[in-house]
Amino acid sequence: MVDTITFDTGQRLFLLRTDRSFYAMRVLADGELVHVGFGALVATTLALNNLDHYEEPNYVWEKQGRRWEYPAFGDVTTHDVAIRAVFPQPAAALQQDEAAHVPIRDLRLRYVSHEISTSAEPGLAAQHGRNPATPKPVLCITLRDIGYNFLVRLNYRVTPELDIFERWVEVENAAEMPVTIEGLAFATVHLPTDRYELRRAAGSWGREFVCVTQELHQGVTPLRQLGLNTGHNANPSFLIHPKGRAGPDQGITYFGMMAFSGNWSLRFDVLPTDAVRIHGGYEDSNFSMTLKPSQRHRTPAFIFGVAEDGTNGASRRLHAWMRRHVLPQSAHGPLRPVLYNGWESVYFDISMDKQLQLARTAAAIGVELFCVDDGWFSGRRNDRAGLGDWTVDRDIFPQGLAPLIAEVRRLGMRFGLWVEPEMVNPDSHLYRAHPDWVLHFPGRPRIQTRHQLILDFGRSDVVDAIYTMLDSLLAENDITFFKWDMNRYVTEAGSAAGREIWYQHVQGLYDVMDRLLKKYPRLDIQSCSGGGGRVDAGILSRCLQAWTSDNTDAMDRVYIQDGFSLFYPPPAMESWVTHERNHQTGRVIELDVRFDVAMRGVLGIGTNIDAIPAEDLENYRRKIAFYKKIRHIVQGGELHRLAEGQNGGASVWQSVSPDRRESVYSVVVVQAMQGHHLPFYRLRNLIPDATYRLTDEWDHELGHFSGAQLMTLGMPGDQRHGHLTCSVRSRTVLLAVV
Ligand code: DGJ
Repeated sequence: MVDTITFDTGQRLFLLRTDRSFYAMRVLADGELVHVGFGALVATTLALNNLDHYEEPNYVWEKQGRRWEYPAFGDVTTHDVAIRAVFPQPAAALQQDEAAHVPIRDLRLRYVSHEISTSAEPGLAAQHGRNPATPKPVLCITLRDIGYNFLVRLNYRVTPELDIFERWVEVENAAEMPVTIEGLAFATVHLPTDRYELRRAAGSWGREFVCVTQELHQGVTPLRQLGLNTGHNANPSFLIHPKGRAGPDQGITYFGMMAFSGNWSLRFDVLPTDAVRIHGGYEDSNFSMTLKPSQRHRTPAFIFGVAEDGTNGASRRLHAWMRRHVLPQSAHGPLRPVLYNGWESVYFDISMDKQLQLARTAAAIGVELFCVDDGWFSGRRNDRAGLGDWTVDRDIFPQGLAPLIAEVRRLGMRFGLWVEPEMVNPDSHLYRAHPDWVLHFPGRPRIQTRHQLILDFGRSDVVDAIYTMLDSLLAENDITFFKWDMNRYVTEAGSAAGREIWYQHVQGLYDVMDRLLKKYPRLDIQSCSGGGGRVDAGILSRCLQAWTSDNTDAMDRVYIQDGFSLFYPPPAMESWVTHERNHQTGRVIELDVRFDVAMRGVLGIGTNIDAIPAEDLENYRRKIAFYKKIRHIVQGGELHRLAEGQNGGASVWQSVSPDRRESVYSVVVVQAMQGHHLPFYRLRNLIPDATYRLTDEWDHELGHFSGAQLMTLGMPGDQRHGHLTCSVRSRTVLLAVV
């Protein structure tokens, strides 16, 4: 058994090891902490020596190009940095009439000490007690400024079996005067000098998680979010690999993401030497944080690692880490229920009768969780009014929600409800009583988006008031699921918290969620932000699943889900079957395709099921039953993306159960001309000498094949459909060892 974290006192070298990778840094004679290396292991042992020969040539004076483990503005001024701190004027400087030189924007960090523990955790870690608490080793290295008593602690937590490193930073003002921080990364990660390609999720509302690949050239490539949530346009996650040398299943692939649901920034800096640094942390264009004497701040985590088995290898490590260490455990068991959501059925036209009718039909086709979307609360007839007043609308539900919930429970389903707690409509009791509770600048315009404003979570009284309203709702009703929405970006970020609002909004949000999850152990939360605007490792440590997009067109969703799954696992990916003619795109898509796409994650139904023919309902019932048969593999298995829709042809996913005895094969043809034959996709990670029986949703047997054959010749066609061509749009097949 090899130690995960070691310190070689002779070389003053830190070596962090996972099962298949390493990360190393060392302390130079004058206390500078420099990066040594990060990569995949080639053998079980790794002895590092003569490290001076690996120091970057100082291509300009004053060590600007040195691989500072956590570059500070002061030591490094001609490249991007991880931290910028501003110190007030020392009295002596003023006496000498040096006022023009102050405040002092110069920070030089040197090694002081280090320790290894197993209890430290990053800032904003979930406090609801539902994450598996596995003790993991954490290295904490303390650095101090050369003059001021300002400390920076770099933390490294290692999950060896998944090749995952987590880093975060704690800053402490141990000086007598306040210190202002104007830029703060959770980590800087150095890659070996090379030419790289970056893969990341891009997009917009309705087009989230569309994967973009770009070559990194010299200079800084910034990714960021400015809207207060995680964002539709970009996601704080990435894959990066040496150009042209990595594929889906082979080649070194670095990966990373941040556990933060507010304004974030990732900057990929290719230096003139081709050395590459990645700085990930708070977006700092309008950010600053002042630490009073003895005050500390701990950042959220930057998660990263390296896989030697390509893009899929990187995704699988992230998925396993999320499943085992991030996603909250539900009191209702490990499998996500089949959900019904009525948004696209009724929109704001909610009535008790219609909800009862939908609930009865939903139960009859096998739904397990019935969720009432927007429009159930006081004054909410459209999107112009009501947000902020989280009490049941008595015009719609004269006796409250109790009779509806009782019926839903009698039908054997759980009950869920939509909320958007961070928002308020000016036309609401809450806003009329507290117009000062929103983000605003006094005397300046308050721009509304979707007729709503954002509450100031920089105020603890506002956070507490929102908590109290949700608490009452849960105390009075048997609600075990919240769909937690957030439908706008910030415009005027004026807050009681000043320029710290970017952090404090997220802190307030997480705090409300953590308190509710702790008090109501049967509550689960879904993250939604106008679709997939809030998906990240921070929110997913509170929300067991996320809404990936408001775009429910199955063909568009293939791309969205391909991109989502690069970073986030299928049990976190909520996906609905909606109407034959899609409400967003108007495209008509057959039921098989809609189900085959939605069954890749957490299946939901969003169709107006009372308005479809009986034979269609029977199809829904059969397909939901089939999903229940395969969902432990889809949600709990290991995902192999055999082909991505973006490359044309088909999107092909294969999930493999942990014991490899079961697998689900899912193909959706996105683009193929008549006469174009798709390959027999070769399956992965089956037991070579086991025989697998292939069946479909009708339980029709499609044949028996050995694992070895399926992994070499590939997935066969079948008698019923013939060979898989563009005329078969999609298919989901269950494979089980006989
Ligand atoms: C945006 C969500 O993404 C939709 O699913 C729906 O809940 C609406 N908000 C309701 O206002």
